[in-house]
Amino acid sequence: MKIFIDSADLAQIREAFSWGIVDGITTNPSLIKKAVEKLKASGEGTSMKDYICRMLEVAGDTPVSLEVIGTTEKTMTAQGQWLYETFNHVAGNVVVKIPVNPGTTAGSSTRYDGLKSIRTLSQAGIPINTTLIFTPEQALLAAKAGATFVSPFAGRIDDHLRKVVGSTAGKESYWPREGQKDAQSGHSAEDNGIVSGVDLVAQIVDIFQVHDFDCEVLAASIRNPRQARECALAGADIATIPFEVIREMIEHPKTVEGMVAFCKDIVPEYENLLPKG
Ligand code: E4P
Repeated sequence: MKIFIDSADLAQIREAFSWGIVDGITTNPSLIKKAVEKLKASGEGTSMKDYICRMLEVAGDTPVSLEVIGTTEKTMTAQGQWLYETFNHVAGNVVVKIPVNPGTTAGSSTRYDGLKSIRTLSQAGIPINTTLIFTPEQALLAAKAGATFVSPFAGRIDDHLRKVVGSTAGKESYWPREGQKDAQSGHSAEDNGIVSGVDLVAQIVDIFQVHDFDCEVLAASIRNPRQARECALAGADIATIPFEVIREMIEHPKTVEGMVAFCKDIVPEYENLLPKG
């Protein structure tokens, strides 16, 4: 499974790439907002355009998703083209992120504009990451429209299911892949047959395998290391993971304990043999 960093924070991106395990970047308007606030607070006078260029350079030949902000076919297509034309020359790695359904109210008239825009942009050779996927059928439609990636939001499904069972656990907490029962009814909490964010990812992976779709499943909204592990087990092609969660993935107290013991046992005969570095 590839790992993308889910961040627009240049310092985090640089650091994570230096670890040698990052295969791309995803951003969204909320992550850009955070990065802009940090930039303003630091007093660094970089323009947004330069900032994005620097991010693309750090990513090198790995894909970077930049999201449109429009909600109609016309604006999303124009913004997608603009993002690609403006930034892809920097490192040839721009992916345009389009919401599967840009409607902001239920039944809104823009509900198919995402698909239309995906079709137009992908036919023009622009790679598309379809965002805000909450059902396998949305993923199926996005793949049919020509998306290169679909992004199921695992963590936000878990947030929703936690609410259904009345759990007050925080958004970083682990929600089991096989779901959890409602204490009162005894029924498994579900969202139209989906019992967890990982279950959503797994169902999409199954559909794409059965039908041999050439579209990658990019598990998004990852909140803890165990969720990342379960997405890997479920066959996700990619997981986009926040900096803090990637950092947590390297930790285990027994590893520290083992290191302390090994360091204590070093004898001079062995130490003198090895280069000091
Ligand atoms: C990335 O593509 C998504 O926008 C992101 O993973 C959403 O994460 P969140 O649900 O933690 O905001």
